[in-house]
Amino acid sequence: MTNGSPDTGLRIRRDVQSLIAEGDAGLQVLDDYGAAIIAMKELDSAAGPPRNPRSWRFQAAIHGLTGLRPSIDHPQHWASCRHNSWFFLPWHRMYLYCFERIVQSHLGDDSWALPYWDYTKASASSRILPAPFRTPATGNPLHVAERDLRINHESAPEPLDAEEADAMPALRIDTFALPAQNAASSFGGGVVEDVVPTARARGSVELQPHGLVHGAVGGEDPPGFMSRFETAALDPIFWLHHSNIDRLWDVWLRRWGVDALPDATAWLDTEYEFFDADGNRTKRTIRALLDSAELGYAYESTDPPRPIPVQPGPEGLALAFPEEEALVPMADPELVGATEDVPFAERVEVGIELARPPEAVLAAAAITEPTRWFLRVEDVVGEHPAVSRYDVYLNLPAGHRAADHPELRAGSIATFGIPEASQPQAEHGGLGLTDVFEVTDVMAALRDDFSWDGSTLHVTVVPAGVGGEAERGGDVRAGRISIYAG
Ligand code: C2O
Repeated sequence: MTNGSPDTGLRIRRDVQSLIAEGDAGLQVLDDYGAAIIAMKELDSAAGPPRNPRSWRFQAAIHGLTGLRPSIDHPQHWASCRHNSWFFLPWHRMYLYCFERIVQSHLGDDSWALPYWDYTKASASSRILPAPFRTPATGNPLHVAERDLRINHESAPEPLDAEEADAMPALRIDTFALPAQNAASSFGGGVVEDVVPTARARGSVELQPHGLVHGAVGGEDPPGFMSRFETAALDPIFWLHHSNIDRLWDVWLRRWGVDALPDATAWLDTEYEFFDADGNRTKRTIRALLDSAELGYAYESTDPPRPIPVQPGPEGLALAFPEEEALVPMADPELVGATEDVPFAERVEVGIELARPPEAVLAAAAITEPTRWFLRVEDVVGEHPAVSRYDVYLNLPAGHRAADHPELRAGSIATFGIPEASQPQAEHGGLGLTDVFEVTDVMAALRDDFSWDGSTLHVTVVPAGVGGEAERGGDVRAGRISIYAG
């Protein structure tokens, strides 16, 4: 038995890389997964919309299927995945939980547990799409061709970039959710009402690694399954990717505790309906989704990821899991500067005049608390992105390669979710979505650079994907880029 845990009676969701390292016994879990996918596909009708909740396409349709309009009122719950808000993690947790039960029912084995793809480990090999998913042998149910060719390459696969797989920027945030208009970043997403599936305030973990890994695996040339809501769950790796995101929530809970979760009943009492192992409807509130043990599973590991060193730069800037350096609580961050309408069609640099130079902020803050800095990239829209992400840098010297300045990287905007938030028929009229990056460390590095007078902050947006910087970015643009200090 590789799955059950004798101590706790919980089924263990295993790290796919340790399953592979174990050989036959471990690989059995993946063989079973493949067998269940085949059985689920047999329940799919040859044509027309999916009918059986236990089928492969029906399960994917709950997330989205090309042509379905998102609606949380749809009787089948099609295209109802919650994104860009504090509902992202609990909705996907229940989605996975029910999917796992359906797989178990196909296998007649309720000890089967969904593995996870942990690309947050230090080794580059952990960021390679696991081999059983890359083998195009006829009929391999874990393989799909609709992926980025470099990531999906059978013999010479490219790993994900270390930066896009890094979960530390999200895990070090102690705040689960913040009002959507708040200028600071949260782990889980913006506080919104659950009236539409796709909101506008993306949480840090939903952005990175979640959204960036989606885009890297799917690619944009053309967009693979993982690149769009309406195809993502057709890729078998989707479920292992989300298992890892769900695990990162448990890593976060282990660090910050359940008391760090929202206590708003608007969140706790929100109830989701999915389909159970027998295909019948089943409901759960978010309150009943918070403890994975209550759902019968635990992860092989909820240890924090090994920090990925930031180089070059002082040791102290490396993101260590902040046991000893809890974040400073902040006053309401204040707007220090902004610029409007920035196209990402190619590498672009904009200057933001700062109302208060960083030294003045520091001087003022010295009396109270150290300052935290946030960069907001707001109302990002675009229906035809040409890349899977846009890397954002502060004061990147003109003519320098972005890759040579990881210390100046504020973060990356994931393309995943931008087209969905940009359709004119979408809620909010397709106003796009907003990402928030804490840039306190980058601002500290800039402050130490005495050649900068602190009056204008230069923000550079670099279209990028697997293999780094790209020439063209497509029609994506930001409505506003703003900087806040608090
Ligand atoms: Cu609803 Cu990873 O997506």
